[in-house]
Amino acid sequence: MSLDQIKSVAVVGAGDMGHGIAEVVLLAGYPVSLYDINTEAVERGAGRIMASLEKLAEKGKVPAEGVEQIRSGLLKTTTDLAEAVGDADLVIEAIPEVLDLKKALFTQVDELAPPHALLASNTSTMSITEIGACTGRPGQVLGLHFFNPAVLMKLVEVIRSQETSDETIETGYAFGKKIGKVPVLVRRDTPGFIANRVNAAPTVLFQSIVERGEIEPEALDAFLMAVGMPMGPCELTDYIGIDVAVNVGKYFADQLHADYTPAPHVMRMLEQGHLGKKSGRGYYDWSNGRPQIGLSKATKRFSPLLAIFVQINEATKLVDQGVCSVAEVDLAMINSTGNPVGPMSIGRQISHWDLSDQLEKLAGRYEKSIFAPTQRIREGGHKH
Ligand code: 3HC
Repeated sequence: MSLDQIKSVAVVGAGDMGHGIAEVVLLAGYPVSLYDINTEAVERGAGRIMASLEKLAEKGKVPAEGVEQIRSGLLKTTTDLAEAVGDADLVIEAIPEVLDLKKALFTQVDELAPPHALLASNTSTMSITEIGACTGRPGQVLGLHFFNPAVLMKLVEVIRSQETSDETIETGYAFGKKIGKVPVLVRRDTPGFIANRVNAAPTVLFQSIVERGEIEPEALDAFLMAVGMPMGPCELTDYIGIDVAVNVGKYFADQLHADYTPAPHVMRMLEQGHLGKKSGRGYYDWSNGRPQIGLSKATKRFSPLLAIFVQINEATKLVDQGVCSVAEVDLAMINSTGNPVGPMSIGRQISHWDLSDQLEKLAGRYEKSIFAPTQRIREGGHKH
């Protein structure tokens, strides 16, 4: 199916990601049918879309007429899956990160959506191949992975499963452009795709540092904000949700290596129901909105380069597997994080001897073999 044939889109799941994805698609002028399992959830999602659009309209970033068009017709909400996807040319799934739930949903959607429709998952980590195998149209199943907040973050990863057809991928990529995003093609279906996988390594590092009590979360966040990140790693974990972060870590641990297992302090927050922004408490108290991070508390005992080193190392694993190129790693990282530069361009200034040496030290100090330098790093292949 070509881009021109996409006339109407269904978004399944109206939570943090689903409502944001629907908003982006609506802003591109598509009618969207937003589905969730109950009226409260779907109406909350629609309310968040309208609140965000009004904020953008007040700032002159979107025209007021456009917002009115969305309110008065383009956005439809429903709790009936058949109604949501029955006329859709593209269905985007954004339900919780539970593989069995996703598989069951794709089986159902496959029966209800028109035969020509493309089915996309916004999964953060999971196998698009496995999800597509639950349908009778695996060639029309792809990943379209957005970043939170979807309306502001530019990246959309367009993921090819082992079965996705060339035509589906081309249409998915063109759709990403049409909705104003920076699409990056993920050529092979691998856990976490590009951005989440590259970020998995510094996440393990930050969680290890906090777990050992070497640096307090606020001191770490303050430092990383001071050096230019829009949000430090602990605040970001709260922002995306402790539950989401745990699911991501567990999936990596299950699929790749036990070193990715979420740290005990993160598991404790989950068990206590402290899910971050959405529950009002995580690393921080969110009951009065975004936490005020005291920049004066910034640690002096951390080098941001350490986080970059482990990102570069992780990225070389993807390059070796043919998932993406070195340049695409940076394109994905810049457009998913709001950071001004990507890790690979920083890595170009660093010799492979220094990089290997630092990575060996980190692997030893934190007892994480995933930090050990790859062969590509040892040979200086991280530069191209
Ligand atoms: N709609 C409209 N406007 C919004 C908005 C939304 N959904 N969210 C934030 N804004 C606006 C705010 O109202 C604010 O407007 P103002 O300047 O007029 O007051 C403006 O954006 C800036 O927001 P803040 O003042 O709260 O703070 P920031 O300047 O730090 O921006 C942020 C907020 C865009 C979230 C920024 O902190 C950021 O880029 N953080 C990093 C986000 C990130 O890395 N996301 C990726 C997470 S990983 C992921 O999603 C993958 C998944 O699979 C797990």
